[in-house]
Formats: sequence, structure tokens, C-alpha cells
Amino acid sequence: MAFGHDMAQTSLGDHLRRIRDGLLSSRRFQRLAAAFLLTRPIARRRAADLFDLCAGFVYSQVLVVCVRLRLFQQLRPGPLTAAALAARASIPPDAMGVLLEAAAALRLLERREERYGLGPLGAAILGNPGIAAMVEHHAALYADLSDPVAFLREDACGCRLSSYWPYATGDAVGLTREAVSPYTALMSASQPMVAEMVLGAYSFRKHRCLLDIGGGDGSFLVSVSQVAPKLELKLLDLPEVAAIARDKLCTAGLASRATVIGGDFLKTPLPQGADVISLIRVVHDHDDEVVLDLFTRIRNALPPDGALVIGEPMSASRGGADALSAYFALYLLAMGSGRPRSFVALQRLLSRSGFSDVRDRPTRIPLIASVIVARR
Ligand SMILES: C[S@@+](CC[C@H](N)C(=O)[O-])C[C@H]1O[C@@H](n2cnc3c(N)ncnc32)[C@H](O)[C@@H]1O
Repeated sequence: MAFGHDMAQTSLGDHLRRIRDGLLSSRRFQRLAAAFLLTRPIARRRAADLFDLCAGFVYSQVLVVCVRLRLFQQLRPGPLTAAALAARASIPPDAMGVLLEAAAALRLLERREERYGLGPLGAAILGNPGIAAMVEHHAALYADLSDPVAFLREDACGCRLSSYWPYATGDAVGLTREAVSPYTALMSASQPMVAEMVLGAYSFRKHRCLLDIGGGDGSFLVSVSQVAPKLELKLLDLPEVAAIARDKLCTAGLASRATVIGGDFLKTPLPQGADVISLIRVVHDHDDEVVLDLFTRIRNALPPDGALVIGEPMSASRGGADALSAYFALYLLAMGSGRPRSFVALQRLLSRSGFSDVRDRPTRIPLIASVIVARR
């Protein structure tokens, strides 16, 4: 055995894959595939996929500049010339021309004769302010990944992202307002897209009282309150986040319907009385032991007919490694805890915590959030 290749365990599948890999890595085969009319579309798509992988970091930086210069907002009223945009941004006109052409190629902008307007992707970003907020906060992850090998060896961790999410690695309950405010504002900006997915997949109207654990500034509860006007609302989050939520729910006119508890969801007794509990973008932040502990506490707090609703981006269920998993796996490694999970992985943890009826509910855009409903 050399380098971990155990010939004795080679299966027929391994053998066929080796033949496939040999063919795909052969220059002669690549030339033939590109020349032959039937395989040409596949060869072109594979070349384009590889090009996107090599060039993706440049695409991301084009997007970062558009967001930082607020180009999409500037173009909301209508198209502008490169010269006008260059003057506003204090960027030399030639360099602005390069940026605008790159953004147009990426469909963020659109060239309209001598001017530039919003492209389909730029317009979509304008409609979802959470996306721009996400793009901006990626600066921390980008810095952590600047030497990705050192990052994986853990010998040069910039730890910028783990400072941004301090509850992932440190004393969560003692966090100050200053420490929780940036991530709470980011979650608030991106929450409407997530709430739309969860509320499209599950109706809270049939319940009496909802407890949103790790509920952030209360944005999700505000969205739920609009579609389930009779529902009593409870939120549990770290003390300083809870204080922000209290203000928000008050401003939204929900003071009489909502109770906010500041504490640690692993230590503070969970408030009683809720017949539905939600975990929105909470589970993927934590390692399995923490999740098991939290699920068990939730199961014990729910009445026999109660439900747990989990909403977050989930990786492909059939063990497939999709782009979403690649992103979240590296993101959560930099953050310091958690991992992306598939429906099957969550189902296993839920069963181990005593939930017997676990179902997934289709959402319109699973990339934003998938939904699981578990009952005791
Ligand atoms: C990724 S945010 C999601 C916020 C909100 N659910 C949303 O989707 O916008 C995770 C939330 O869990 C909270 N949290 C993390 N650890 C916690 C703990 N031990 N106890 C209580 N809340 C915690 C954080 O403060 C944060 O508000």
C-alpha cells in the first residue's frame, strides 16, 4: 500500500472511474471531444466551468467594487455614462471603463449604447439589500483565505471571521453590544429573504405560541406576526442581542404580543408554553454535540403535539458535494464552529434527540433556505 491507495479494496466503480479520469486528463481525448460535434457542447461546458473556477475570485472582486461604490443604487434612477460614474467615484475613466465592462460581462450591469444601466443580477441585488451586506462582510473571510493552505493547516489563521461571529468560539453570554451589533445587523438585513422561504414552506397560523431560539433582532418574528396575527411570540437570544430585539419588537408595535428572553440556549431554561419552536440559521453554526444538546432541550420543552421548524441553507441530501456545501464548509471552518448539513444529517441528529417524525418542506429557493419540520 502506498499513499493510502489500498489496491485490495479497489471496486469496479473505482476501476471505471480511473478509466474515466485517464480519458479526461488526456490531451488527445480533450482535443477529440472538442472536435467531435456531439461531444463539443460537453467539452465547451467543462472548459467554461474550469475557467469560472480559476477566475471566480476576480468575479467576486468586481462585485465587491460595485457594492462598495454603490453603483447599483446610483443606476436605480436610470443609466449613466462611464465618465459620470468615474467622476462620482474618483476613479480614472479608463479604469472605470474596465470595471463597467467586466460588470456588464457578469450581468451585474448592462451596456446601453454609451451608457450603463442595471443588469439582471445587479437589479436583483438592489431588491435584496441583504446580498450587498453579505458581500461586504466577506472581506473578513477573504482575508482569512488569502493563504488557503496555511488556513487549512491552522498555522496562519487570520481569524477575522471568527472575531466577527464571537459566539462561535468564546463566551457567548458575556458578549458586549459592540461585539454582537455587526452580525446582528447583517442577519437583520438578510432575514427577509429567509423569512419568505420559511413562511412559504410552513404555516404558523395553526399554532398558539412560537418561540424563536437564536432569533436575532426579532426580524423573523416580525415577518411571522404579519401572516399569523393571533400567534403569541417569544424570542431567546444572547442578552445583548435580546436587548436589540426588545427595541425592534416594540417599534414594530408587538410589545404586547412578544416576550424576549436574554440567555444561553444551552443553559437558560427554555420558556414554557410554545407549541412551535423555530431555529432559523442557527443549527449550521454549531458542532454536533451542541446541536444534539439543543435539540434535546427543545424536544423536552415542546408539548406532545408541538413542532420544531428548522430553516437554513442545507447541503444536497444524497451525499452530493454541491457549491453551497463548498462555500459553507470553508465559511464555518473560518468562523470556528459548525458545518453545513444535509436533510439526512439533520434527520439523524433529530432522531437521536428523540424526534420521531421528521420531514422536509420544499422551499422556492433552497439556496436561501430549506425547511425541516420535526415532531416528537
Ligand atoms: C446566524 S444568527 C441567526 C439569527 C436569526 N435567527 C436570523 O436568521 O436572522 C445566530 C443567532 O444565534 C444566537 N446565538 C448563538 N449562540 C447562542 C447561545 N448560546 N444562546 C443564545 N443565542 C445564541 C446569536 O446571537 C445569533 O443571533
